[in-house]
Formats: sequence, C-alpha cells, structure tokens
Amino acid sequence: MIIYFSATGNCKYVAKRISEETGDNIHSLIALNKNKEYTLELKKDESLGIITPTYFWGLPVLVRQYLSNMNIKTDNDNLFIYAVSTYGTSPGASIAIIDDLLKDKGFRLSSKYTLMMVDTWTVMFDLTKEENIAEFTRDTDNKLNMIIDSISSAKNEDLTEKTKPKLFSKFAQFAYNLDRKTSYFTVDDSCTLCGLCSKDCPVDAIEIKDKKVVWVKDKCLLCFRCLHRCPTFSIEYKNKTKVNGQYTNPNITEFD
Ligand SMILES: Cc1cc2nc3c(=O)[nH]c(=O)nc-3n(C[C@H](O)[C@H](O)[C@H](O)COP(=O)(O)O)c2cc1C
Repeated sequence: MIIYFSATGNCKYVAKRISEETGDNIHSLIALNKNKEYTLELKKDESLGIITPTYFWGLPVLVRQYLSNMNIKTDNDNLFIYAVSTYGTSPGASIAIIDDLLKDKGFRLSSKYTLMMVDTWTVMFDLTKEENIAEFTRDTDNKLNMIIDSISSAKNEDLTEKTKPKLFSKFAQFAYNLDRKTSYFTVDDSCTLCGLCSKDCPVDAIEIKDKKVVWVKDKCLLCFRCLHRCPTFSIEYKNKTKVNGQYTNPNITEFD
C-alpha cells in the first residue's frame, strides 16, 4: 500500500511510478483524511510507502495529523515501511519527523528517501523560466529510478540528502503555522468563478459566495494547489507569487 499527499502532482507522480513497479495500490491522504479512514489493513508481506512533499523543512499539516491518527494493522513482524519526501531545496527534517511519528506507534522506517523536484513555493522560486524547472529536475528521474530499485528489493537504505536537524525544522514549522493564514490570499478580477479552487481544496477552505471566491477557514494547508491550478491564474499569496508563475507536474492530469 502506498499513501501519498500531493497538492501539485509531484508526489502523485512518485507514488504512481513506484506503484507501476511494485503493483501496490496508491491512496490519496486527502480522501483518507476526509473519510476519517485511519486504519490501514496490510496484507501478509505487503509493504507500506509514505510519499509526501516537504513543507517548511517538515510535513504538511494534513500529513502530520494523518500519521498521528493512523493505525497500522499487519501480521508481518518484518513490515517494510519506507518514506519518500520530495523537496525543492532542502527536505529539512521531514523524514526524521515521519520516523518519530511511526516510533510512537511501535514502528520504524525501514528505508528513507528524499527526491529533489520542482519547488512549488513560488513566494521564493521563479517557475516562469524553463531553465529553472530544468535545474530543479536535473537529477529527478535518475534518483527516482534508484529509489524504485531500492524499494523493489526491500533494501534497508538511507538515500536522504540535504537534510537539516529537527531543531531547525521546529523553527521553520513555527513560521509555517503563521503563514497558513488564509487572509494572505487574494483573487483578482480575471477570476471567472469557475469554482475549481473550491472543488479542489484538500481541506474545503474555499467557497464561492455572492459571486466571490472566499476562504471560509482561518488557516489552510498552504499547499498552493488553488494558486497553481487556477485556469486564469487569478489567485495570489502575499502579493508575491504572481511574478513567479504556476506549476503542476506535467505527468499528472487528475489531482486527488
Ligand atoms: C508551503 C510550501 C512549503 C514548502 N517548503 C519546502 C521546504 O521547506 N523545502 C523544500 O525543499 N521544498 C519546499 N516546498 C516545495 C515542495 O516540497 C515540493 O515542490 C514538492 O515536490 C511539492 O509536491 P506536490 O507537487 O506533490 O504537492 C514547499 C512547498 C510549499 C507549497
């Protein structure tokens, strides 16, 4: 079984690629979380894969909460559990945090992987230029193939890179919590009220009311799916993201 969270497609692409090789089913944490399906029943010899983006050197709040609530049911004493954290510049302590959350439940990560992909934090990164996208993805396919080989042979491996100590991540996660305020989002006049942002939001934080896009929760995941998927690119965050363009993984067409 592979569980993943993906706002803009990178992690879904990774989950799909691993699934194609291992035959394991993929499950979006957005649906599992909405349906409060916290118990994962694993078949004999079935492994568990956790695929997540890095947010502020740690985990998206939905992933952290899901892993805290999750129950793993297995008869396998040697359960192979692996995690892949995708990132743009540094995965921080995302993998260490997953390992800690599993430890609380009596499990540990057998294998740890990080994978550099396009950084969707367009507050800082300019994704309007092809060369910037190419730079982020220079090594992605090679590394992903290595990860898939490692998972297929259930090797106990640590293929993480550019990680940071957990203490640094704690400070970054504090900033994440402050930045999650939905009042930082604005919508300009180009909005056609198509409703995709509302339909797509992983935590139902957006609604169309009185012919306006409104955020109905004080905080969201800050996943930027609304901003990156908007057909008219009408959504902006802190007046900083318009100049840096939109991005969704080109191999993914369904965002769930
Ligand atoms: C709110 C936010 C915070 C992020 N923080 C980090 C970070 O701390 N380090 C990093 O390297 N990438 C960071 N990223 C980039 C994502 O981890 C990366 O683009 C990931 O592959 C996106 O996965 P997805 O397309 O499956 O959603 C961040 C992206 C967002 C939206």
